Amino acid sequence: MRVLLSTLLLLAAQPASAEGWMPEAAARTAAGIDRQFTLLVVFAGLVFVVLLFAIDVLLVKNLRQDDERVGAPGADRTLYRVLALLLPLVCAVAIFAMGVDGYLDAAVAPMDAMTVQANRGADGLTFRYSADVETDELHLPAGRPVRLTVQTDAAPVALTIPAFRVRRDARAGAGTEAWFEASLPGDYPLLSAGPSLATSPTEPSLVTVHSASDFDQWLLSKSDVLLTLPPAEAGRVLVERKGCLVCHTTDGSRLTGPSFKGLIGRESHFADGSSQIADPDYVRRSILEPTSQVVEGFEPVMPPFAGKIRDAEIDAIITYLQSLSATGEAS
Ligand code: HEC
Repeated sequence: MRVLLSTLLLLAAQPASAEGWMPEAAARTAAGIDRQFTLLVVFAGLVFVVLLFAIDVLLVKNLRQDDERVGAPGADRTLYRVLALLLPLVCAVAIFAMGVDGYLDAAVAPMDAMTVQANRGADGLTFRYSADVETDELHLPAGRPVRLTVQTDAAPVALTIPAFRVRRDARAGAGTEAWFEASLPGDYPLLSAGPSLATSPTEPSLVTVHSASDFDQWLLSKSDVLLTLPPAEAGRVLVERKGCLVCHTTDGSRLTGPSFKGLIGRESHFADGSSQIADPDYVRRSILEPTSQVVEGFEPVMPPFAGKIRDAEIDAIITYLQSLSATGEAS
């Protein structure tokens, strides 16, 4: 029994080696959870072996006693009985004491945790970072605590991130939350079960953990510039994000398409011989259906943006183009 106990204590003292039988651990709290889990499995295994052993011994002894009908009373067994009761109790209390700390740590998110709201809507999971950033993939910073709230509009959802040892179930009207601190940049599987919680997890996707500075960069690139920037600034960011600058310049030089410099107010000549002063309506039309009026001397290769750009985004782009025309400067 002393050997068993020391094995147990040895295991508890070691950092849990997650290799082999657990997915890679990529969150700060994962190591503690793994150790606790390993301890419980080992403890249950030991109890199982000891019980089997005891049953065997008792059985053999009883059979012998039956055979020999030894009437003499056995030695005093009190010590063994007390030990048999106390040892498992001590083990259980020790495991509990080690787990309580980790449990409390995992139950209460730190005050400075960043909040990400996962919501399962009609078209799957979305993640909201702030009023102006919502994405359909989960991106996280390494080394910063994150509180993940899980909600669903309709169908129940079970969200699992094995590498963080996190699983949360939410039903309509009954949200839940978890917190963790990702420790290593990289991509990790994220599983979200479909309409029925009973089915095994489906819809695998990825959690991307960035270094803290890369994450800030990413968050900035996802923010809705219409909410955070003045219109002309937002327009400048949008022509870059929407890929307009692949074909258009802002310095007057010609690429696949005409330059944006001085566009508003200039007279555009079209392949069909007609012409028009470029006003905001014309620019809007050019963006939504570029081939409706093809500028003379250019190929009709601009992709239509109808359905890919919001009206408010076009407004911001127009404001930006106007600012280019007003100053006549490249920016
Ligand atoms: C694949 C290259 C390409 C991309 C990407 C592209 N354009 Fe164009 N664009 C063109 C070409 C070529 C023309 C001229 C032919 C035509 O009118 O269709 C043009 C014409 C225009 C015109 C009319 C210019 C004039 O002088 O009358 C506007 C305005 C315009 N694009 C805006 C945009 C905006 C805004 C974006 C991004 C949301 C964009 N374009 C993305 C190639 C592109």
